[in-house]
Amino acid sequence: MNRTLSLRPATETDLPSIVSLFTDSVHQLAARSYTPEQRAAWAPEVPDEEQWRSRLTRVETLIAESDGTMAGFISFTAGGHIEFLFTAPAFSRRGVASLLYEAAVERLLAKGVRTLTTDASLEARPFFESRGFSVVEAQTVERDGVQLQRFAMARCLSQSE
Ligand SMILES: CC(C)(COP(=O)(O)OP(=O)(O)OC[C@H]1O[C@@H](n2cnc3c(N)ncnc32)[C@H](O)[C@@H]1OP(=O)(O)O)[C@@H](O)C(=O)NCCC(=O)NCCS
Repeated sequence: MNRTLSLRPATETDLPSIVSLFTDSVHQLAARSYTPEQRAAWAPEVPDEEQWRSRLTRVETLIAESDGTMAGFISFTAGGHIEFLFTAPAFSRRGVASLLYEAAVERLLAKGVRTLTTDASLEARPFFESRGFSVVEAQTVERDGVQLQRFAMARCLSQSE
């Protein structure tokens, strides 16, 4: 784990930085797995801020920071569905997603959640597999008329996590 990382809950003023990190992450980190057309449908150049605001009201979001710079974020529902897990390209493979994921698990376990689910991208599947998730179903979803592949994944939690 990167020792300079810290975690905090997101606030409403984080919205523009969250959307910007998401967009950079999709266009750079997911470039190995998705075409430019797919990435543009997933993370449009002009994001819909209102849609993001409404999405984020339904989830709890934690932010990882390094010296005041946003390094990643995770959003999850009270029922244990991980909606978003995104690392900024400059912080890739430095333990950001791991730190966020572990903090989310701690909170969800405390709420009594025992099963985690997510819809993982091709890019995120190895991360979730490394955390004990299994693929429930390969899915093809449509965004803006473009088809994207993803995986419904799940794992059971035990209290000793
Ligand atoms: C997937 C993602 C969240 C991983 O974030 P990260 O901060 O780089 O992950 P970590 O550094 O905590 O990785 C922990 C472990 O997960 C696995 N892992 C993470 N990314 C991986 C990849 N691209 N390929 C293979 N294994 C990977 C490895 O085991 C890694 O450990 P290691 O670096 O010691 O080998 C990040 O790459 C990302 O934001 N991707 C683009 C957007 C996306 O698809 N987000 C998820 C939407 S569902």
